[in-house]
Amino acid sequence: MDPLKEFAPLPSDPPPGCPFAPPREYTELRIEQPVSRVALADGSWAWLLTRYVDIRRALSEPRFSSDVNAPGYPRSGMVTAGEGASLIRTDPPEHGRRRRMLTPAFTVKSVSALRSRIQEITDQLCDEMEEQKRKDGPDGSVDLVRSLALPLPSLVISLLLGVPYEDRVLFQSITATVLSRVNTEDERNAARKELRSYLGHLVVSKEENPGDDILSELIHERMRAGQLTREEVTGTATLLLIAGHETTANMIGLGVLTLIQNPRAAEELRKDPSLMPGAVEEMLRFHSITRSGPRRAAIADVEVGGQLIKAGEGIICAVASANRDPEQFPDGDNVDIRRRNAQHHVAFGYGVHQCLGQSLARAELEIALNTVLARFPGLRLAVDFTEVPFRSDMLVYGCHALPVTW
Ligand code: HEM
Repeated sequence: MDPLKEFAPLPSDPPPGCPFAPPREYTELRIEQPVSRVALADGSWAWLLTRYVDIRRALSEPRFSSDVNAPGYPRSGMVTAGEGASLIRTDPPEHGRRRRMLTPAFTVKSVSALRSRIQEITDQLCDEMEEQKRKDGPDGSVDLVRSLALPLPSLVISLLLGVPYEDRVLFQSITATVLSRVNTEDERNAARKELRSYLGHLVVSKEENPGDDILSELIHERMRAGQLTREEVTGTATLLLIAGHETTANMIGLGVLTLIQNPRAAEELRKDPSLMPGAVEEMLRFHSITRSGPRRAAIADVEVGGQLIKAGEGIICAVASANRDPEQFPDGDNVDIRRRNAQHHVAFGYGVHQCLGQSLARAELEIALNTVLARFPGLRLAVDFTEVPFRSDMLVYGCHALPVTW
């Protein structure tokens, strides 16, 4: 059997002219074949899940493994940051042991304590945007992705990990290569190696000169006690950098663009910032930036949505489809900042691997969007909407640039 001839390819591109919409095929699949076989670029195939209930059920099912080396795991075209040493690719009970070491830094309480620092960084970046605009004059424009969306999460995660600020440009370029769909597997592997090698050196330097950061704590509390190897500390740092940087950056860019495109919602939020947490949930649901979603391999036979998935077969959970499932989110193709159940989205995944950094991502998004609304009331696109370069060539959706003016 040749999967590439037998099955439809994994849908990836938004419909023409609708950059905010997930692939059109999802709507049909949810109704007709919610668990269906798809062909992957490397010639293998996997089950694609498109319904909200099936995806939640699969992501909380212990018979599905996150281990990329498990037989049948759909590896084609995916990012394997940190590889074997990574928390995101580890199954229980080892997964729980590793996750508990990191949880304290990412609780709602720890993130609340960081909020003033996040606000300071945001204010500083907005000052720089104003400065640039002043220099360029009334016709000037600023790329909000480069000026705010990318540097903010990068600076916050660098701060948490204790990565020197001067290295941010290096990080942005390496993570962009690791996550790009247009780069070859060899280029991505080289970028992964470069990042790990840099972080490996950073771990060594923090063994000698510890700071007040997650890496130093992992080294001095966990590695020295023999609970983690140096390799595992480096793998964790790689994962946090990649997982925490590009994702939040793209959501900030898309969030601002959503507000520009929905001036009434922007006005409501400007008048009443207490609506922002709900609006952020709605934007996470609506955009679902990890478009092709979490993947797993069945380690025993499992039935999902009436379909038997055999041990050794892989699944792909299309969270972008689940988050538009009308059974769960009526009128889900529209943004409604007052949607009552928006927080039940699966943009952060579900089950034991549900995003560790979700409180941090929420805080960064709320602060960035509130600050942009307050400081740039006349914010608008500096180009036509059709000219915004969307990232359909990347694994994490968003826009490459967002030229704005005010
Ligand atoms: C809008 C921003 C973000 C989105 C949409 C997002 C999305 C996700 C998703 C879908 C998963 C589940 C993967 C799976 O089940 O296989 C995940 C896991 C994870 N995320 Fe995020 N993420 C975001 C921000 C962050 C941030 C800011 C950090 C940390 C600084 C972070 C760290 C992680 C980690 C460590 C995991 C693995 C958790 C585990 O395996 O137990 N993420 N994220």
